[in-house]
Amino acid sequence: SLDGHVVQIDDVIGGVVGVLNDSFEGSYTAMDAMVTPASNLKFGDYQCNAAMKLAKPLKMKPRDVASILVEQLKEKMAGDFEELEIAGPGFINMKLQRSYLERAVQTMASDNDRLGIPKSSDPKRVVVDFSSPNIAKEMHVGHLRSTIIGDTLANLLEFKGHSVLRLNHVGDWGTQFGMLVEHLKDEFPAALSGESVDLGNLVVLYKAAKKRFDEDDDFKVRAREGVVRLQSGDEESLAAWRCLCEASRKEYDKIYKLLSIKGLEERGESFYNDMLKDVVEDLEGQGLARESEGAMAVFLDGYANKDGSPLPLLVKKSDGGFNYATTDLAAIRQRAQVEKADRVLYVTDSGQAQHFKMVFEAAKLAGLREDGVSLEHVPFGLVQGEDGKKFATRSGDTVKLMDLLQESIRIASNDVGGREVEGWEDGQELPEEFKRTAEIVGISAVKYADLSMNRESNYKFSYGRMLSLQGNTAPYMLYARARICSIVKKASGIEGVEEGGMTWPEPAPVVLGEEAEIELARQLVKFGDILYDVEKELYPNRLCDYLFETSQKFSAFYESCSVIKAETEELKASRLTLAVTTAKVLTKGLGLLGIEVVDRL
Ligand code: ARG
Repeated sequence: SLDGHVVQIDDVIGGVVGVLNDSFEGSYTAMDAMVTPASNLKFGDYQCNAAMKLAKPLKMKPRDVASILVEQLKEKMAGDFEELEIAGPGFINMKLQRSYLERAVQTMASDNDRLGIPKSSDPKRVVVDFSSPNIAKEMHVGHLRSTIIGDTLANLLEFKGHSVLRLNHVGDWGTQFGMLVEHLKDEFPAALSGESVDLGNLVVLYKAAKKRFDEDDDFKVRAREGVVRLQSGDEESLAAWRCLCEASRKEYDKIYKLLSIKGLEERGESFYNDMLKDVVEDLEGQGLARESEGAMAVFLDGYANKDGSPLPLLVKKSDGGFNYATTDLAAIRQRAQVEKADRVLYVTDSGQAQHFKMVFEAAKLAGLREDGVSLEHVPFGLVQGEDGKKFATRSGDTVKLMDLLQESIRIASNDVGGREVEGWEDGQELPEEFKRTAEIVGISAVKYADLSMNRESNYKFSYGRMLSLQGNTAPYMLYARARICSIVKKASGIEGVEEGGMTWPEPAPVVLGEEAEIELARQLVKFGDILYDVEKELYPNRLCDYLFETSQKFSAFYESCSVIKAETEELKASRLTLAVTTAKVLTKGLGLLGIEVVDRL
């Protein structure tokens, strides 16, 4: 039943859970409903395997459980599904009815903001910890992945109605600041008085400080003492430190601007400084942390070094300083208690998997968070060079993110110029009106190439592949969407373009006749299910796959069904509505991926 929103898989799950609780003894949850998208569209849209799971505990035959379910579901879902079918030993196939699809597409077309997709019935407070580069160090491709994936997840959770806090947990408080601050005192004394000074290239500065640290014993001692001075609040040291943070921030803000990352709040490790002592005392008091070789450590069951010796989670160094893990423990408590987070996502490379596992477990044992708070590491794989080796420039240096993004924009400029400018020669300056397009194409190619891969696998970075107009790429998706928009314009006669977006024709009643129309409609109404899946499982590539399939189903539809020359006015209006809905789904989907759309390519 449609009351302004399109039936979602969670509605189906809810329906089944309700029936289970009404029909059988015991209390059932979503886990028992066993509802999944159908593996083959031939059999239906959803599949319910609850009968198979519950037969044994209910001491019934699966088919008998299935019949009871079907009987009850029929009433509940009347009008949405065709006759429910029991297959094999007791699987229930659920196929959306044509009349339902017709109404659902129209509902989506009529709702510009949400496309008929409801907000979560159980809105949560979610912290997304992402990007998180380290001050005075180069922001690398790992941080780029974290930024792109984290931004997408935050966008999507927000769209689903959750209250999202985007946190940039920058590394601004480690031991390296001892040497940096001391070096700054010598080289840039003006920084100590709180003046803003141009520190030049930070990487050069870092290398120089590191060199002194490694080669000069007196400096090493100074650096060690420098950390303590800084962490205990010495004004001069703090001024120098602020100067460093400011310079780094300027650098990565340029990247965020180019990537259109918005709403990311910088809350670095230093933010938790005052809480660290207390956390360690708490762990000690509970007998969880104990001394180990002069340092303090938490020993957790099941964690061992390669040689079999217990692997400690270090929370305090022998010199009194605190560790990366200590800050994360303090942050968990702050996020749970002060931010009232229900869910905290940490988007980092998979190399940190063990760190987070241990930190989460220690936090649980120590009661730093309530049981209901879900801490989730969202790991991703490595970016590799085209040869599968370490991602580096030809000379073997690490690739600067700014260079990487600019290179992508440069190639995109040539592509756009080649298509749009007569007599174009590579490297020529692009006419003003195409510059923004080239920038969007270049940036979205990088974003989409990252997001369309299963985040846990490594991927080979290739400008050629990511900027290709063929395949599951940003240029292809942008092109597909632009083409649909121009079809809509042509068929509706509506030319008006508002602020880069379409003025959409009024949605009309949808009538589905041809197979390709039905298949497109079935695809469109699944948009919400994909978002629901990504909201739970956190794999953005599933949204990319869905958008790619959607554009392919549209092509199949457009090949076999004429919009402009449809037999009747009603049919034309209906097909136009299908096209409009497709364009809106692509626009919204790409928007969630942080990809801006263009009207032509
Ligand atoms: N700064 C770290 C790095 O560059 C990432 C921080 C991730 N977030 C966290 N809460 N530990 O690897």
